[in-house]
Amino acid sequence: MDNKNTIHGDILGLARKLHPRQIEWRRHLHSHPELSDEETQTTAYLVKELKALGLRIRPLNMTTGVIAELDGRSSSRTVAIRSDIDALPIAEQTGLPFASVTPGKMHACGHDVHMATVLGTAAVLAQIRSEFDGRVRFLFQPAEEMPPGGARPMIKNGALDKVGAIFGLHVDPHLKTGKIGLRDGPTMASVFDFDLTIHGRGGHAARPQDAVDAIVIAAEVVNSLQTIISRDIDPIDSAAITFGKVSGGVARNVIADRVQLTGTVRTLSPKLFRKIPLLLKRTVGGICKARGGRFTLQAVADYPVLNNDSAINALYTRTYTDLFGRSRIAVTDPVLGGEDFACYLQKVPGAMFRLGIRNPKIGADKPWHSPEFIVDEDAMYFGTSLLAAAAVDYLNGRTA
Ligand code: NI
Repeated sequence: MDNKNTIHGDILGLARKLHPRQIEWRRHLHSHPELSDEETQTTAYLVKELKALGLRIRPLNMTTGVIAELDGRSSSRTVAIRSDIDALPIAEQTGLPFASVTPGKMHACGHDVHMATVLGTAAVLAQIRSEFDGRVRFLFQPAEEMPPGGARPMIKNGALDKVGAIFGLHVDPHLKTGKIGLRDGPTMASVFDFDLTIHGRGGHAARPQDAVDAIVIAAEVVNSLQTIISRDIDPIDSAAITFGKVSGGVARNVIADRVQLTGTVRTLSPKLFRKIPLLLKRTVGGICKARGGRFTLQAVADYPVLNNDSAINALYTRTYTDLFGRSRIAVTDPVLGGEDFACYLQKVPGAMFRLGIRNPKIGADKPWHSPEFIVDEDAMYFGTSLLAAAAVDYLNGRTA
């Protein structure tokens, strides 16, 4: 008899039975979104539910976030499962009965679904703890949406102590419910967020010869930095440089002495990532020198490239194939979005899978961060089944 399949069968049954309760968790969390590093009610709710499930809460020297543990037959190996917990400053327009009750805040990236899926995983595993060796550590991490993010403080607080592998997930409105998406290696971009200030010299609009126009310099900088993408980067690599905000000047007839630019650079190439500050300084410095101005460049925050481990993806593949069939696994494309799950993957092997939530019949086909973002809640059953079964398979030594 194949013992593994018996455990998988148990997990599917428990996940199915749990689903109504899981929907309640998710809807509560969806109704009460909190922004990055402000997730105090969310944290209190998670602690209450995790304690009710019999999990041990680890001390955490952070204002928000939770680390909880569940022991199996022994504590020989530890696997971590991570959910992010923060919402976005977006005014919800879904019209759902459990829509956000907090004006201007919304779980529009599915982190409410991640929490309910990982809570569900804890609930399922708590009922079969005599069936696996080792320990499962659940990481409910704050501030994913706001670099420098919550992953680094979680790691400083011991989130990865003795951890052999880490699992993560993100909902994906491009994948049908019931499907998961996997990709080995670099999958999400490194992020370099920066503030750039161009300093000129103010003066009268009609006497440019006596001034240094910071707006003219800034315009040249914005255009020239795009040339980094086309001329300084191997065309096989990809990168994006975007300025999301430009501000400067005071009046029509006054030459601006200063312009502030808020930008971000994304790339999947770690080599390129290291070169970016240098390339920015070279171009901006050259233009400023030519025009008689100067600049200051301040690095605000960064996330590394998210690098999925192929052995963990192989584990997901075997486990999910056994649970639901090979045809429900897709290979997903890399994206230039950033994700601080990458910080954990710099320390221990792991992988983030994409959880299909697409169901156009209920409007679950809007992009992330849309005010009309809707999720097919059935997806939580698939996500929970995979996380619980992959944890058991990993801890019981059925991994490469
Ligand atoms: Ni997200």
